Amino acid sequence: MTVDLLLGLQWGDEGKGKIVDILTTNYNIIARFQGGPNAGHTLVFNGMKHVLHTIPSGIFHEKAINLVGNGVVIDPVIFKNELIKLDEHHIDYKKSLRISRKSHLILPTHRLLDAASEIAKGKAKIGSTLKGIGPTYMDKTGRNGIRVGDLELEHWKKKYRALANKHERMIAFYKVDLQYNLEELETEFFNAIETLKELTFIDSEEYIYQALKKGESILAEGAQGSLLDIDFGTYPFVTSSNTTAAGACTGLGVAPNQIGEVYGIFKAYTTRVGSGPFPTELFDEDGETMGRVGNEFGATTGRSRRCGWLDLVALRYACQINGVTQLMMMKGDVLSGFKTLKICTAYNYKGETITHLPYNIEAENVTPIYTEFNGWSEDLTTMKNDSQFPKELNDYISFLEEELDIPIKIVSVGPDRKQTIFR
Ligand code: IMP
Repeated sequence: MTVDLLLGLQWGDEGKGKIVDILTTNYNIIARFQGGPNAGHTLVFNGMKHVLHTIPSGIFHEKAINLVGNGVVIDPVIFKNELIKLDEHHIDYKKSLRISRKSHLILPTHRLLDAASEIAKGKAKIGSTLKGIGPTYMDKTGRNGIRVGDLELEHWKKKYRALANKHERMIAFYKVDLQYNLEELETEFFNAIETLKELTFIDSEEYIYQALKKGESILAEGAQGSLLDIDFGTYPFVTSSNTTAAGACTGLGVAPNQIGEVYGIFKAYTTRVGSGPFPTELFDEDGETMGRVGNEFGATTGRSRRCGWLDLVALRYACQINGVTQLMMMKGDVLSGFKTLKICTAYNYKGETITHLPYNIEAENVTPIYTEFNGWSEDLTTMKNDSQFPKELNDYISFLEEELDIPIKIVSVGPDRKQTIFR
């Protein structure tokens, strides 16, 4: 068996949670491989909305094992809150959740460092979710991090103290006005650690190896989007992990030749939350309508998302980097009612027309070149199959399939599990 991947192709918030939840019935194991509680994966079913941050989106299915891989960073406090929410729905997570011993812990001081760094950056801030993601990955690559497996060792608190003390000195170095009560934060943290310790910690790369050998199927669930990738995203306005296909190999311990299907998810338009370049961003009524109709507010931070037309240059780049084999187009319903739709098919880059994503995509270097499409007025949210789609939507889809040379297998027409059309 192989490991299939599900990845966001834009700046995150594409709707990965919904699709993982739908695909879970086909898989034995759902595994997160990077990121942490900066993610907010939303699932809607039976009239209820669930937001997951670190726990894989297969958790509501009884049979699937949900694995938090070595590439993930875990905030025990947020993790515990997620478990409490699952308790309300009587989910037997002790049976179905596994955590890699090699995943790293987000300490309270990592969150404080994130805040101090952003305050110090002023206008140049990344627009981080302030969940401590950057500082935790910095400690990982700096070889100072504390891993879940350390919690099984006797003297881990000594290591914790030394690292937290160092962080406090670093926070002071920033010389910013940051009020905090570390004692309170630590009480909450150590309580949450006790909850975490009730779960099953595993050597996840071995677990996955054995599962594949037994013929089990695995879906790796990406977080954030390809354009937020630490290497290939719009650096420095990115997250601190590899959100692309290669990240699944390092974040789970899976060899590249074990990767099967690569499902790429994109919205029918584009959104971005936080700072950074966004060539097709709209500042007019169209952008405002997308935000309002699409309910474009961050699932983790509540911040309103910036909206714009679909950027095919960026999407093509993401498909290339990830080796996407199947596409899923989300939020098609949000585009109902627009008279004209636009897709950016090329950039004017310093006077030259280009169709690849260049090093600099800031507004002073790049002007989008658009192809226009007729819009449709039909409400898609109650449609059951693609034979009901208006011609204009089919034209929009066919254009993308031709340009990208990848089939669009799913069109999502609303947040509910049921509002999903398979093609
Ligand atoms: P961080 O990962 O919290 O440090 O945030 C870095 C950048 O990535 C910011 O612009 C965030 O808004 C963005 N970001 C992080 N996680 C997500 C996500 O799950 N969805 C969308 N944007 C995200």
